Amino acid sequence: MIKCRNNIFLAPMAGVTDAAFRRIAIEQGAGLTYTEMVSAKGLKYGNKKTTQLISPAANEDFFGVQLFASDTNSLKQSIEMIQTIHEGAVSVFDINMGCPAAKVTNNGEGSALMKEPKKASGIIAAAVKASSIPVTVKFRKGWDETSVNAVEFAKMCEESGSAAVAVHGRTRAQFYSGHSDNDIIAQVKSAVSIPVIGNGDIFCAGDAVNMFNETGCDAVMVARGAQGNPFIFREILHLMKTGSEAQPPTSAEKATAMLSQAKLSVVEKGEYLAMRQMRKHASWYLKGVRGAARARDEAVKMETFDDLVQLISKVFPELDVTELLNSISI
Ligand SMILES: Cc1cc2nc3c(=O)[nH]c(=O)nc-3n(C[C@H](O)[C@H](O)[C@H](O)COP(=O)(O)O)c2cc1C
Repeated sequence: MIKCRNNIFLAPMAGVTDAAFRRIAIEQGAGLTYTEMVSAKGLKYGNKKTTQLISPAANEDFFGVQLFASDTNSLKQSIEMIQTIHEGAVSVFDINMGCPAAKVTNNGEGSALMKEPKKASGIIAAAVKASSIPVTVKFRKGWDETSVNAVEFAKMCEESGSAAVAVHGRTRAQFYSGHSDNDIIAQVKSAVSIPVIGNGDIFCAGDAVNMFNETGCDAVMVARGAQGNPFIFREILHLMKTGSEAQPPTSAEKATAMLSQAKLSVVEKGEYLAMRQMRKHASWYLKGVRGAARARDEAVKMETFDDLVQLISKVFPELDVTELLNSISI
C-alpha cells in the first residue's frame, strides 16, 4: 500500500520539483509528491547537492523519493542511507526507468533499462529487498515504436515486487514530442493487478478525468501541466468531486504562490541560486497574464528576491504586495 492523500500526484521533474515547489503543490492539493530523480551513485559518494535533494518539505506527509541507478549495489546502499537519514518520512521509493536523456541512458540507466528487462528486474528486486516501504517503477511506452513493451515490462515489474507502476505513454524516441498514448496505459492496467499511475499530457482538469476514463488507471501524475500552475491539483480535485470546473486562480493567488515558493527556496538554497532557479518558474507563472512577454523578459533576469517583488508589483498593479508578503508564513 502506498500512502497518499489522494490519487492526483505531482510527477518527478529534474530542476523543477524541489522542496519549495512541492510544498506549494501540496498546498494546492497534490496527493503524493516526488523528488526529482536522484542518482544512487551520487548519494553513495555523499555528494552534498544530491543529499539536499532527498529532504522532504515541511508539509510533505506523503513523500516519494525517485532514484536512478544501473547497479543494484548503489541502489541498495542509497535506499538504506535514505531510510536512516529520513526515518519514517518517505512513503515510497520510485525507480526511474523512463528518463530519455542520453547522459542517463548511455550509462544504462533510465529508459535504457526498458531494453534490458532482466537487468531491470534484478534492480527492482534488490530495491524491494533493501526497502521497508513500497518500491514503484516509472517507465515509458517503450524504447521506440518498433519495441513497444510497456505491458510486458509492467508484468515484469509486478513479478519483481514493484508495488505500483507509473506509465508515461510516450516512447523514449519521442522524448516529449507528439502525443502521450492513453491506450498503452489502458493495456498496462488490464495486464497487472498492482495500481497503475497514468502519466502524460495532463494540462487541465479535463485531461485528468479523460485519463481516468480512458485507461481505468488508479492515479494520475502531472508533470509539465503543473509548471507555474500548481493550481491544477485543486482544479482536478474540484472537477472530480463536483463535475464542474473550478474558478481559475486569481492574480493574488498567483502572486502569493510565486512569492512563497521563492521565499522557501531562498531559505533552502540561498538567494543567489534560488532566484536563478525562480526565473523559469516565474516565467511559467506569468504565462497568459497581461503584458506576459515583457514580464517574462524581466523574470529571466531576476537576481534577488526584491526583483521578484518589483516584477509582481508591475504585473499586478492592483495588488498590495507588502500585504501579500505579510500573509506568507514559511
Ligand atoms: C523538466 C522535466 C524534468 C523531468 N524530470 C524527470 C525526472 O527527474 N524523473 C522522471 O521520472 N521523469 C521526469 N520527467 C518526466 C515527467 O515526470 C513526465 O513523465 C513527462 O513529462 C510526461 O508527463 P507530462 O505530459 O505531464 O509532462 C521530466 C519532465 C520534464 C518536462
